[in-house]
Amino acid sequence: MEKVLEVRELKVDLKRDEHRREIEILKGVEFSIGKKESLALVGESGSGKTLTAMAIMRLLPENISVKKGEVLLCGMNILKMSQKELRDVRGLKAGMIFQEPSSYLNPVFTVGNQIYEAIKDTSLSVKEKKKRCIDVLKDVGLTEEIYYRYPHQLSGGQQQRVMIAMALVNNPSLLIADEPTTALDVTTAAGIIELLKVLMERYGLSLLFITHDISLASNFVDKIAVMYAGRIVEIANAKIIMDTPLHPYTEKLIACLPEKYNPGENIKTIEGSVPDFHSPPSGCPFHPRCPYVMNICRKSEPPVIMKDGVIVRCFRYGMPVET
Ligand SMILES: Nc1ncnc2c1ncn2[C@@H]1O[C@H](COP(=O)(O)OP(=O)(O)OP(=O)(O)O)[C@@H](O)[C@H]1O
Ligand SMILES: [Mg+2]
Repeated sequence: MEKVLEVRELKVDLKRDEHRREIEILKGVEFSIGKKESLALVGESGSGKTLTAMAIMRLLPENISVKKGEVLLCGMNILKMSQKELRDVRGLKAGMIFQEPSSYLNPVFTVGNQIYEAIKDTSLSVKEKKKRCIDVLKDVGLTEEIYYRYPHQLSGGQQQRVMIAMALVNNPSLLIADEPTTALDVTTAAGIIELLKVLMERYGLSLLFITHDISLASNFVDKIAVMYAGRIVEIANAKIIMDTPLHPYTEKLIACLPEKYNPGENIKTIEGSVPDFHSPPSGCPFHPRCPYVMNICRKSEPPVIMKDGVIVRCFRYGMPVET
């Protein structure tokens, strides 16, 4: 399958300062997304989901940098591009939406103005650009009238639709959505998910969907990648992972879903917490919370194992080859 996004061995560090050593936050993230395919990146808070997305878009904060790896967007290595090349690629090849649309919309310009300014095709006339804006507003379920409004005049759901319109105005191959529904009420959130499904078809989009909710993701994406402490610990088809999770962390995530409770049962959580990046545990980062922990898990990092089309990082499915 043609790849729209390929992330290879991506390592991201918190930069060194006078007092601290360099701290690795992303520890070799690897996954790919095919044409028109959707992948959800799932994991607890602090596992590195947003930083993965930011590294792909080359939008990492000042104090964080890519140490190693490749990010190929439609075959082009994003990490090697000049600022000018990047400006073209962002928007044209990939668009991104975020959790809080209000913080990404400029309060002093109209919605129309902001979508218009995002258009990269310089061959279009003013009239054609405006038509493109209105077409894309309609595609995201808004009316032409929204073109003339200011962000504060819109609801949270409408603001997120405007962000989606802006991300899609250049007809990119990939949409990255970082917790796009977390700040919205349940009904509005469901509307945004339905919209993403329709737009994937209409625009022939690939989707990287970031969420902490594996259940939400499994309802509409093709593949799920589970992230833990800066690594992807399992990647599988969405249905397969929900039915037969292999990694103990994935198993726990699914067992703790509200729909798995029996009536009257208390809320379940995974005991312990995500390891601190400043003092990660030895061996497998999940070993302090793992019910199946073995001696080797405390000493060595598990190898990446391919099992029936699933990629998993756990000693339960294979031991390193003795050398
Ligand atoms: N600008 C920064 N400076 C220092 N540390 C950071 C910065 N941004 C993120 N981190 C740290 O990197 C780790 C990964 O952060 P990231 O935002 O990618 O997590 P996340 O999986 O998106 O979590 P959430 O579900 O809460 O959004 C966290 O421990 C976080 O504290
Ligand atoms: Mg995040």
